[in-house]
Amino acid sequence: MQNQPIYSAEELLSNHPIAEPLIANGVRCHGGFDKDGAYSSPRTLARVPAIAAWQAQLARDGAPLIEIPRDLMPPQYPNVAQAKLLLRNGVREPLVRALTVISIVEGFGAMIRDVRVPDLQSLFVEPIDGTALAHLSGGLFEAHARDESGYRDEGGHKQMWEAARDAALENPKIPGDVLMRLMGRRGRSGPPKAAFPEMGEDLERMLGFMANVLVVEVFAEGTFQWGIDVLSDPDVSAAPEVAGDMVRNIQADEKPHVDYLRTALSEVSARTLHTVDGKKIAGKVVVDGLLHRVLSQMTKNRPSDQREDLNEGLTHAMQTAANPMALRGEFDALESPWTASAKTGFEPTGAAG
Ligand SMILES: [Fe+2]
Ligand SMILES: [Fe+2]
Repeated sequence: MQNQPIYSAEELLSNHPIAEPLIANGVRCHGGFDKDGAYSSPRTLARVPAIAAWQAQLARDGAPLIEIPRDLMPPQYPNVAQAKLLLRNGVREPLVRALTVISIVEGFGAMIRDVRVPDLQSLFVEPIDGTALAHLSGGLFEAHARDESGYRDEGGHKQMWEAARDAALENPKIPGDVLMRLMGRRGRSGPPKAAFPEMGEDLERMLGFMANVLVVEVFAEGTFQWGIDVLSDPDVSAAPEVAGDMVRNIQADEKPHVDYLRTALSEVSARTLHTVDGKKIAGKVVVDGLLHRVLSQMTKNRPSDQREDLNEGLTHAMQTAANPMALRGEFDALESPWTASAKTGFEPTGAAG
């Protein structure tokens, strides 16, 4: 093997030169604008070409790149039409709540830097030099964490969603219980049972986390489009350009997240793993198993979770409208019908049930 794509953490965290920083609602954020005014995502100078090189290597090896089917993505609730209806009727609280949930979930992304990365080479039969896998603890997880929750005096996605919300909805009052309710719901499920105990706890936890974040990131594409559609509509947004562009910038920053995660998981898929009891297991069995589990759960739970986050307050918030009953009827009539697909595309082969 020659010219292996190997990068230092410093390189993977390095920025394109920018002419003007991104300031959102008075907060200095990551990224910035080049001399032509085009937005440049943070930490992409070496990270984007590195991911392209790792993907090219997979292609040379004839290994497929994982693709999460977009039709598994549940629609955002309230949908665009419902959100605009509420805002036109002066009912802002549910939107403030939904946008605050998004900003908090973005901030949770920082947890990826705390994921324990075991000595990966010792767990794989084949070499992993010059792969995305070999760079997870050497810059990729850290860059991701910084993008989501900010770093030092620079805001990240958490602060950028807050800025979009506050600009579009004119610095609304933020309900005090958003985080508490979100944590309450998350805490209920508890940690998942080991799907592959023979793989060892650390590796399963790391790969499970990555599969989970990959699906969250892909599903977030729908949330971004929703955010752009609602917040850039001058009928309902006080800052259609500022808020819409902010969400577009966040959306651009997410591309390397989806790309490095699916690259690293594809690299696992193309390899063989040592088990703790001295046997071997195909990486594809593990990755497909983890993706199948997270996709089945998320397509099932996300619609009800979003409703739960909102519904209790929805009826109450609608009391501020001129005719709450009529508004509720109109709101429910705009519901997008959606049923979770029965298949994820990552079904374990040959397994019963
Ligand atoms: Fe993000
Ligand atoms: Fe992300």
